[in-house]
Amino acid sequence: MAAKQLSNEIEARIRQLWPRFPEGKAGRALCLPVLYMAQEQFGHVDAEVIDLIAARLELTPAHVTGVSTFYFMINKDRPGRYHLQVCTNIGCQLMGAYDVFDRCKARLGVSNRQTSRDDNVTLTEVECLAACGFGPVAQIAERGKPEIPLYFENLDLKKIDAILDALAEGRVPTELGN
Ligand code: FES
Repeated sequence: MAAKQLSNEIEARIRQLWPRFPEGKAGRALCLPVLYMAQEQFGHVDAEVIDLIAARLELTPAHVTGVSTFYFMINKDRPGRYHLQVCTNIGCQLMGAYDVFDRCKARLGVSNRQTSRDDNVTLTEVECLAACGFGPVAQIAERGKPEIPLYFENLDLKKIDAILDALAEGRVPTELGN
């Protein structure tokens, strides 16, 4: 298999943005956006992509790994068709986030950061999704669709069951958005 390469689009963005930063700072400044773009290109960011980015941005692989592991929106493994992220931070936790999360685990037959056997849903427990007043909160991204994930707020067991039913049918239930 041919070695991975950053796309022409990513290379063009790096060349465009690099001169905007002070001498020696561009690589660090571009690390997160290039990680995000690389994830769009490859679907996830594995060790090979980390090395690729590190070499291109004149950073160490350890630095790029550190950034990629800090942000939960960067997937280290290929996610299932749907990536279901459930916030269990304190605001959501007080409103029953673990009931919702445990229901997901039970119905999907997975633990945190695992993908269902049919490759349909990856479940991830995440820190605050910035909708703390509307917990429990979850978001769903569809593989290959890099646009902003759909948000689901004020979740309870009935709503998460409806969401899981819909995902099993191959659709995201937009009508449960609030
Ligand atoms: S605590 Fe869950 S969205 Fe902030």
